[in-house]
Amino acid sequence: MTVALVRRTSSRLADGVLTHLERRPVDVELARRQWDAYVEVLRDRGWDIREVPVEEACPDCVFVEDAVVMFKGVAVITRPGDDTRKPEILAVEPIVRDLGCRIERIVAPGTMDGGDVLKIGDTIYVGRGGRTNQEGIDQFAAIVEPLGARVITVPVTKVLHLKSAVTALPDGTVIGWDPAVDDSSVFPSYLAMPEESGAHVVLLDDEHVLMAADAPRSAQIFRDRGLIPIEVDISEYIKLEGCVTCLSVRVRS
Ligand code: GLY
Repeated sequence: MTVALVRRTSSRLADGVLTHLERRPVDVELARRQWDAYVEVLRDRGWDIREVPVEEACPDCVFVEDAVVMFKGVAVITRPGDDTRKPEILAVEPIVRDLGCRIERIVAPGTMDGGDVLKIGDTIYVGRGGRTNQEGIDQFAAIVEPLGARVITVPVTKVLHLKSAVTALPDGTVIGWDPAVDDSSVFPSYLAMPEESGAHVVLLDDEHVLMAADAPRSAQIFRDRGLIPIEVDISEYIKLEGCVTCLSVRVRS
């Protein structure tokens, strides 16, 4: 099964939460066209698209990755760290239940945003310090470690989420933009990228990576490593501290 969960853009996108960036005007219609193009790439690469119904009252709901973390057939429904985002989880649960996933939950006082969770095989790095707290990490570890995961906590202070700072290539190399990374020494294999958006990839398969269009030097580095980058313009989501990973949840089994 290769299913991608996505969620359309709320008409209130421009009111989304900002933590590290200044608010800038957001063109919601352009954002919607960018979302269409993003989803089309997933579909073209063979992903079965499942839509979580949009929640108009939640400006950030398009960042569906924050509401659920998948691991080995288990869907961990998160408890987002920002109160405006907590209702986003409600519509996610029926969708992952329909996929046959076992449901687990992060509960108060734990908090977790899916954007803080970077899975590389059975190693799961979880960012602590922004939206995800230690209680959330402890609950998450208690769910996934019996399934074979090893959870490693890493600090996140400079950007919104761990995956705003680092993601990983198909060979497990962690890629990051140094000014956003608290401590790259925790990663056994780390490659510094020349552009902030160059640190964000969605693995579409063993050779194709989806990335933002504003990191051409990073795209060339990926080509030089034998990968095929597919670039999408997500400028309107970047203004809300989003990146390519936040716009979908990839379910592989
Ligand atoms: N604007 C995305 C977030 O703050 O969660």
